[in-house]
Amino acid sequence: MKKIEHIGIAVKDLDVADALYEKLLGVTSYKTEHVESEGVKTAFFKIGTTKIELLQATNETSPIAKFIDKKGEGMHHIAFAVADINAEILRLEKEGFTVINKTPKRGADNKLVAFLHPKNTHGVLIELCQDLP
Ligand code: CO
Repeated sequence: MKKIEHIGIAVKDLDVADALYEKLLGVTSYKTEHVESEGVKTAFFKIGTTKIELLQATNETSPIAKFIDKKGEGMHHIAFAVADINAEILRLEKEGFTVINKTPKRGADNKLVAFLHPKNTHGVLIELCQDLP
């Protein structure tokens, strides 16, 4: 894995959270994006070489809606940049991790992504992401 690409934070209201993180970080979000397939709206902030991703559910079946129902707002996932996501999926499965998306899917911010189940990572949802050309 190359670096922490971003940290994902689940929020109830993206507009409110966007304004607050703007104050906190001292920068404005550089993009907002609606990922229809995931039922989320996202906003991204760049901090040095890494990013903060705010995620708001856009429907009740969204994973973010379920997360907030269970745990409330807060840190949702850590994303690591990888050079070859398919190779990493195979490697991590061999190591005993539970890969939720055996075939990487298209995520926000022009990436291919796959998630590891938090049950094998001490409770942390891990995202692998590879830049799309
Ligand atoms: Co993410």
